Amino acid sequence: QPIRLADYRPPAFLVDEVNLTFDLQPNATRVKARMQVRRNGDHAEALRFNGERLKPISVAIDGRTLGEAERTIDGEFLVIPDAPDAFVLETEVEIDPENNKALDGLYMSGGRFCTQCEAEGFRKITFWPDRPDVLSRFTVRIEADKAFRHLLSNGNLVQSGDLPGGRRFAVWNDPFPKPCYLFALVGGELDVLEDKLVTMTGRTVDLRIYVDPGMAPRAAYAMDALKRSMTWDEEAFGREYDLDLFMIVAVRDFNFGAMENKGLNIFNSSLLLADPATATDMDFERIESVVAHEYFHNWTGDRITCRDWFQLCLKEGLTVFRDQSFSADMRGHAVQRIKDVKALRARQFAEDQGPLAHPVRPSSYLKIDNFYTATIYEKGAEVIRMLKTLIGPDAFRAGMDLYFERWDGHATTVEEFIRCFAEASGRDLTDFFAWYEQAGTPKVTLASRYDEAARALHLELTQATPPTPGQPTKRPLPIPVTVGLLDQDGRTQAFERDGKAIDETVIVLDGASAKITLTGVDRPPVVSALRGFSAPVRLESDAEPKDRYVLLAGDPDLFNRWEAGQELARALILARAEGRPDEVGEERYAEAVGRALSDQAAEPAFKALLLALPSEPDLALAMRPADPGAIHEAREALRERLAVHLQHELRRLHTGLQDLGEFSPDAAGAGRRALRNAALELLAANPRSEIAEVAAGHYAAAANMTDAMGGLNALMLIGGEPFEQGLTDFYERWKSEPLVIDKWFAVQARDPSETALGRVIGLTAHPAFDAKNPNRLRALVSTFANFNPARFHDPSGAGYRFLADQILAVDRYNPMIAARLIDALGGWRRYTPELGALMKAELQRIVSTEGLSKNVFELASRALAD
Ligand code: ARG
Ligand code: ZN
Repeated sequence: QPIRLADYRPPAFLVDEVNLTFDLQPNATRVKARMQVRRNGDHAEALRFNGERLKPISVAIDGRTLGEAERTIDGEFLVIPDAPDAFVLETEVEIDPENNKALDGLYMSGGRFCTQCEAEGFRKITFWPDRPDVLSRFTVRIEADKAFRHLLSNGNLVQSGDLPGGRRFAVWNDPFPKPCYLFALVGGELDVLEDKLVTMTGRTVDLRIYVDPGMAPRAAYAMDALKRSMTWDEEAFGREYDLDLFMIVAVRDFNFGAMENKGLNIFNSSLLLADPATATDMDFERIESVVAHEYFHNWTGDRITCRDWFQLCLKEGLTVFRDQSFSADMRGHAVQRIKDVKALRARQFAEDQGPLAHPVRPSSYLKIDNFYTATIYEKGAEVIRMLKTLIGPDAFRAGMDLYFERWDGHATTVEEFIRCFAEASGRDLTDFFAWYEQAGTPKVTLASRYDEAARALHLELTQATPPTPGQPTKRPLPIPVTVGLLDQDGRTQAFERDGKAIDETVIVLDGASAKITLTGVDRPPVVSALRGFSAPVRLESDAEPKDRYVLLAGDPDLFNRWEAGQELARALILARAEGRPDEVGEERYAEAVGRALSDQAAEPAFKALLLALPSEPDLALAMRPADPGAIHEAREALRERLAVHLQHELRRLHTGLQDLGEFSPDAAGAGRRALRNAALELLAANPRSEIAEVAAGHYAAAANMTDAMGGLNALMLIGGEPFEQGLTDFYERWKSEPLVIDKWFAVQARDPSETALGRVIGLTAHPAFDAKNPNRLRALVSTFANFNPARFHDPSGAGYRFLADQILAVDRYNPMIAARLIDALGGWRRYTPELGALMKAELQRIVSTEGLSKNVFELASRALAD
């Protein structure tokens, strides 16, 4: 019973206006809806509105209550066979927010009411055509006990006041028609941080961030990020905010990161609250990017939304592209690009290589919640980035302007979006569209031959995409490959293409293969290809280690400088994991890293990235079949070699970078702390020194959470008594701070030592563990399954069994969160036969469990299908 893109039909009925009235009660909230309904064109079918987990009280048309024979309600739909063409539909239902542990629809968190409707939560609040192409004007009246002091919804506050019986009310009106997934409501006791912003046309917008009582100071950074985002969207895209009020609310129990409800964003508190004492630099960085992301959705998502959920990347890929561009402007383009590509490879490339691979725009699904994936978000952003590279920044901006102008106020499709760029650039983008429809990561190979006599460099590029489920054969895609040349001494060398002298060029590989000749190449070149990671592909070039050392030392494209180091390290670790260590190569690598560290011109944040070896999951993608135990050992061996070889340099960095001045969360301060903590992390791999003391000292002296976690992380890697002491101290100090205690759980889940699985299982019985809170569950279970490969892939299968037990337990009350945990088992075919069989057995145990949710069933059964 999957839903298919090809079956799209416009809605049979539209709702132009709605008045909602909420009588908020924890266990028996009453919701009345008064809707202006109209038949859409000449659709003849019956009225069919979604409605789930609703207790119906009454249904009336034009003031007349319908009898049982005039409508049916079956737990999924309200059906009215003989509805008129235009009428007022009035419904009343009762719901139980307090017992809603799926955190979907209206629920309670920390004693407050809140909502999450995307994608299909609104149908758990009231009967409604729950699809994004029905746009309606909402007026919302909320009534509640006075204890729920703040009553919020989308748009502008129209009226509020007291009611008899110790109750209060508020009425909100949102002038912009919107799909119901953007509806939001909040009710409760909250503190508020207020500010203002003057927009580019001189309008003043009130900004409010609502948080748990006492937490307002911790919203200051999010407020600052919000103001920078608003101004940036004006400058970069000409987009101005459109209401007089913009609100954000933080909630502690939230299934995802955050949600872009019109004028009333709702955030997971972990992505909103931060101060130096309780949040790390990484937290600050993520807050900045998610605040921007949700704000940018106001135009790419809210003003222009998706026709159907197959178009999800229309708003998500585009908005991720926008938030990445913002972060690059805030924090530095190269460093941001490296981080984005690391995340893309870790999550999206893995997805593409497994049974859950799907196109950026999928063509069928069972549960749309399962499609909020790295492919839709991250690869969706890469596709837009390529589009900009291909047509150039000016045509790209013109295409965006056209899109905003043409589709404002509408629900539309990816085709229409791309059409705007085709028109603005005068280019035929038909072939480009395949990036949206074809799953899988293309492999690009590059072979080069230098003809000294002719001063010519002949490049041959080919592409091939491996099959993915449901797509056995693949066509070539247009792939922009940015190329520059160095000489053997690492100096940039110019060359000619089409008679023009240049330093860099974009080669578009748009067939299965292409031959290109660059002329005017005076000296034997080192090719720097796919600069800035110009396309989401796997590049295999004929470059030799000596070429990579040239790039690592001096490629002006910092992404490729970093990439060269990663390639070298990856090859060394895999060689070791496969039983053929290259000790000479390892020494040479250590020396090159040492030289890179002493480069005065490079930023600390960049050096911190250079210092980190490819992650174990990243390495597992490159080894067939993957042996996580061997990878862990081999990676540790290289870490140890670096730690020993570079010990003086690392100690010097560690001492030299102590933050003396006041904490500032900006990129420069964060970069210095990142490098210092990276140095400590590497030092912790050196068994021959007094490093435990250094780490304990680092932890004890930490003046902020970044350094405290850096210390605790190093202690974890060292293990033994120092780690136990650190854990005890940390818990005692922070036990009243949930977001900090999440970190305490997570650091134990990442521990690669032998005893860690037993500890993790034990922690599920810790009084502070609460599987109903998604942040806490993720901190322990998801961190263990996704970031501790050595222990998750325990040869006994105990790690898999633990995860499957958790999935089944959580699925009983929160299917969305349970489904997200399946991922870690999904790649079972990539591992050694012994491990693969154990993983598969757990997936089989999951699918054969009775009463499974659709969410978990879809992912587990797809993971098993061949
Ligand atoms: N639209 C939200 C965002 O900004 C995420 C919503 C997640 N919803 C879901 N059902 N997975 O990305
Ligand atoms: Zn989004």
